[in-house]
Formats: sequence, C-alpha cells, structure tokens
Amino acid sequence: MLTFCAVILTFLALGSSIPLQARRKAPHKLLLISFDGFRWDYDQDVDTPNMDIMNNDGVKAKYMTPAFISITSPCHFTLVTGRYIEKHGVIHNMYFNVTNWQKENYLSTQGISPWWDNGTLPIWITAQRQGLKTGSLFFPGGNATYGGETVNFKRVEGRLHNYSNEAEWKQNVETVMTWFTEEDLDFVALYFGEPDSVGHKYGPESQERKDMVRQVDRMVGHIRNRVKHHGLESKLNIIIIADHGMTKVQKGSDEIVLKDIPDFSFNDLQFHLVDYGPAGFLLPKEGKLEKVYQALKGAHPKLNVYKKEDVPKRLHFSNNARIPPLVLYGEPGYVIHSYMKFQFNKGEHGFDNDVMDMKTIFRAVGPSFKKGLIVEPFESVQVYALMCELLGITPEPHDGDLEVTKNMLLMDNEKDTGLVPYMLMLFNKKNALTSWTLLSSCAKAPDPCSLADEKYDVLSVVMCTTADIHWPQW
Ligand SMILES: *[C@@H]1O[C@H](CO)[C@@H](O)[C@H](O)[C@H]1NC(C)=O
Ligand SMILES: *[C@@H]1O[C@H](CO)[C@@H](O)[C@H](O)[C@H]1NC(C)=O
Ligand SMILES: *[C@@H]1O[C@H](CO)[C@@H](O)[C@H](O)[C@H]1NC(C)=O
Ligand SMILES: *[C@@H]1O[C@H](CO)[C@@H](O)[C@H](O)[C@H]1NC(C)=O
Repeated sequence: MLTFCAVILTFLALGSSIPLQARRKAPHKLLLISFDGFRWDYDQDVDTPNMDIMNNDGVKAKYMTPAFISITSPCHFTLVTGRYIEKHGVIHNMYFNVTNWQKENYLSTQGISPWWDNGTLPIWITAQRQGLKTGSLFFPGGNATYGGETVNFKRVEGRLHNYSNEAEWKQNVETVMTWFTEEDLDFVALYFGEPDSVGHKYGPESQERKDMVRQVDRMVGHIRNRVKHHGLESKLNIIIIADHGMTKVQKGSDEIVLKDIPDFSFNDLQFHLVDYGPAGFLLPKEGKLEKVYQALKGAHPKLNVYKKEDVPKRLHFSNNARIPPLVLYGEPGYVIHSYMKFQFNKGEHGFDNDVMDMKTIFRAVGPSFKKGLIVEPFESVQVYALMCELLGITPEPHDGDLEVTKNMLLMDNEKDTGLVPYMLMLFNKKNALTSWTLLSSCAKAPDPCSLADEKYDVLSVVMCTTADIHWPQW
C-alpha cells in the first residue's frame, strides 16, 4: 500500500511532462538452441540424464522432419523463418555464382548478406521491428544484414573455429546469460556445431559420436543450471532443435562418380556443384539440358536426377530462380562425386527428408510448455510460428501453422504466467488522477499513446512490482 502510493506520488510530482513508457517486452524470453546434426534417435544408445530430465519437465517431439536439402544453412534458415527452402532462397551452405564459378564455403557464406537476405526475414529481425531485443551466437544467418538491419547482439565464429571445445561452449552459455540478464534480450539463437562434426568424421554409429552426445547432454544440464542460477527459470522458454540427422556413408564399387556414367560429359555443363555430400546441382550449357538429363536419368541405381520443376512436390525444392535446372541426390548413404572419390566423410546428410536417419529433434521446456508431453512428429517449418507465439510477435508470412504445435502450450488458466500486472492511470488537465484500471493480464505495457484521448493531458502506465496489490481507497 505504501509503496504503491509512493509510485503515484512520485509520478504526480514529476508533473505532466514525463509519461512512463516501458520498452516493449516479450511475455517470456526465448532461447533457441541448435545442436547441429543431432539425429532424432541419438539419445537412444547413450545415457542422456539431462535431456531425459528436460523431457520430463517439458515437451518432446517423437522426431522432427528437416527441410530438403537437409544441410546446415538452408535447414537452419527454415527454422528461423518458417519457410521452405525454395521460398527463402538459402538453397545451399555455399554461396555460388554460375557465371564466374565463385563458390564460397560455409563460413565465408555467413558473411555474404545478399545470399541470406533474399526476401525472407529471420525471426530476430521481425522481433526487433516489433520492439524486442535479440541476439545470435554463431547461429547460421546471424552475421547477415536483412533490409539494412542486423541482429542486436551477435557473435560470429572465426575461420578455423573448433566447434567441439566444451570449455568454450560454457563461455558461450555465459555470454548468452549475460545477454538475457544484463542486456535484457528477449530472444537469443545459440548454435553448437556438434554432434555434426564427429558424425561426419567418425560416422553416426561411432564411439566418438556417442561421447559427443554425452557432451551435448552435459551442456543441456549446464544450461538449465545456469538459467536457474540467474533466476530465469520462470521467465525463459528453451527450445532445442537441430537442422538434420546423419547417416553412414556407403563405400565401395557402387559409389556414384558422375565421370564414370556413360554418355555424361562435364563438357556439356556450364556449372556444377557436386562433391558436397549427396545433393548436387547441374547447369547444362545452352541446348544441352535434355542430353545431360537423359544421360543421367536411371544411369545409376542410387542416383536420383530431376529437372528442377519435377523434384517431388513434398520436397518443396523447385520453385526458386537460384535452383539450377538439374537437381541430383543420392539414395541413403550415397554421396555424389564428380571426377573421382574426393569425399571421405564416414557420415553424411543432405538426403531426402523422408529418410529416417535425416530426422532430427525438437525439445522444449519453460513456463509456457506442458510437462512430460510427447508429441507426434512435425516438420521444421512449424517451429517459427510457435516461437512467434511465445514471443508475442506477429509472424511474417510462413509455411507453418500454429495449430500443429499449439497443444504443447499450457492453456492460459494453467500458466504460471510470469505476466506483470500493469496499472493504467488517467490524469486530467490539472494533473489529478481521475481513474485507474488494473490491466492484470498484460504481457507488455500498453502504449499510453494508443489509449489517449483529448480529455486527458497525461495518461500513463505504471508497472506494479507484485501481483498482490492492495488497492488504495479513494
Ligand atoms: C556473378 O559473376 C558475374 C561474372 O563475374 C558477375 O557479372 C555477376 O555480377 C555475379 N553475380 C553476383 C550475384 O554477384
Ligand atoms: C560478418 O559480416 C561482416 C560484414 O557484415 C564480414 O566483414 C565478416 O567477414 C563476416 N564474418 C564472417 C565470419 O563471415
Ligand atoms: C534473390 O536472389 C536472386 C539472385 O540470386 C535475385 O535475382 C533476386 O532478386 C533476389 N530476390 C530478393 C527478393 O532479394
Ligand atoms: C578442439 O577442442 C577439443 C577440446 O578442447 C580438442 O580435444 C580437439 O583436439 C580440438 N580439435 C582441433 C581440431 O583442434
């Protein structure tokens, strides 16, 4: 009662010139974490006590279907835009130019904004435009500029980054905690490059992959402890996803080597992008499309060849000017070599997203989520709308539907809302308080200007520090 009156008195003393206006905030903060290449079933042959606890405390999807082609940058961009790859245009990890043959690797492509900014905004830009504060730590696409805007806070990995260093993972987690607590960010996207790297190098069934999954599990426990330590547990939702899975690469005499295919000639091509796992693109020279297509179609039992417009509709990988005229992908386990067997990875991804080994994870925990719920599989285009809902922002056009994920969320009456009650106070021209209303279920402070009318000189919104308000008697 005393405190409450003090707030009003202070305000009256300030006179009519300084209406309080809170920064717009999300109902809860949101941390999106990606563990690159975490296959849907990686926790089934390794003890993962921390992920198990998280499942009990939150929501787990049986698995999540990645976008096609199932590789890092395109799939991550689908997660943060809710768009299929043909719609957002980040069709490969590598920037490429079919005219001068410029090809940039994954990390260099992070610095090429026009590759990322192709008409679709990631959630952090949309959130910022709606008044929230956001950050990206190593997240794919996080270094690019979109319509002239960049994420508010970012860290970008260097060229020779070691993605597996657990001590550095912990430092990165501290950076994110600081962003949430000291900088008051509403949304952070945090990226870990494992267990993708070990999956490639040693194969998905290797001991090294299992050890890395233990490291991931330790990190999940560590993150949840740090969240608790910083008093964020009731304020922060956490979503853990990955971009794709991983499958064992088939070695031997039946590998796909384009040069060995009769009637196929690299001389008929203006440009090609192969030797990058199972998926590849060809741009035949003028007038050579049919020849190249006929030479490759059915030429190898493990090779799928499509004119871009004929790529199966369910893959959503046709309708974009950046996709070259011929799209190739191998059957599970088969990568595409150009002239010789250049690729030595034991594990790969990039295959048809129907293949079970390409499926990945979705886990979530926090004040908005039900507890101990296992949900049916869904596609990764669905995550974006859910994140927008959690942040209280209006999504851009997208390919998902909130109906698919809504059942994970607590109903309003089940929520530990974390909502702050606001007090709306109206003052007349003589600075006298004429009315007040409690806006008890406001996620964010309403904008006083939007409520003003000519009767009032000042109209202000005061945030109450406790839900347990004792009403003054006037
Ligand atoms: C691709 O390369 C050609 C030839 O160097 C150049 O004219 C064109 O601008 C490049 N395209 C892009 C998008 O940079
Ligand atoms: C990040 O983007 C800037 C340009 O905006 C570029 O100079 C830098 O090289 C990029 N960093 C990486 C790792 O791509
Ligand atoms: C997308 O990129 C292509 C070039 O790759 C360009 O022609 C097109 O204008 C871009 N679209 C948008 C909306 O930025
Ligand atoms: C990366 O860091 C880990 C942990 O510190 C270390 O074991 C590993 O050898 C490093 N890898 C490389 C390629 O330096």
